[in-house]
Amino acid sequence: MKHKLIFATGNPNKVKEVNQILNGALEVVSMKDFGVTEDIPETSDTIEGNALQKARYLAKHYQVDCFSEDTGLEVEVLGGAPGVHTARYGGASRSAEANMGRLLKELGGEMNRVAQFKTVIALILDGKEYTFEGICKGSILRSQRGEGGFGYDPIFQPLGYDKSFAELPYSEKNKISHRGKAMEQLIEFLKNRG
Ligand code: IMP
Repeated sequence: MKHKLIFATGNPNKVKEVNQILNGALEVVSMKDFGVTEDIPETSDTIEGNALQKARYLAKHYQVDCFSEDTGLEVEVLGGAPGVHTARYGGASRSAEANMGRLLKELGGEMNRVAQFKTVIALILDGKEYTFEGICKGSILRSQRGEGGFGYDPIFQPLGYDKSFAELPYSEKNKISHRGKAMEQLIEFLKNRG
């Protein structure tokens, strides 16, 4: 039987994307398809801690091999904020507009706009824990640019580019993004394991 791995995400596009890359080497299924419907706690004060917390929850309650991911935006001059609070920086609505609005307000006319996105993937396989980290360095623009992407994409410009993430085609963003890099490592690891 093909080895099944549960991906702790509610986003079916992410599951589809990983399966396409794995090309049948292993089968990744979403929590929903596996029958997990409850919200998994995310109460850690680090990105890595949250990723591990989600994977450990699934492994403990469902005795499955699984992985989860957590992402945060870290702004240098704000001491690494919003970091673990990235999703709800602008309030409980978790809206991208509110999140970007708060960040632009906090930065005001600040010259140092250095920032990075960080994704941590936590994998639990045969009872062992592994983590994979992907970082994308860049800076925070002074206002929104572009229509594509999601979240903070319109105000994040990756290092070496003169476009925001929201102005880059999805395929190009994936090659250099935090999540793309972390996923690449996970997939390499899984493929080598066979
Ligand atoms: P999550 O861990 O994927 O839920 O992401 C946490 C927060 O970071 C959410 O507010 C997302 O909108 C934001 N975020 C994650 N990845 C990206 C990205 O690639 N571009 C812009 N925002 C992102």
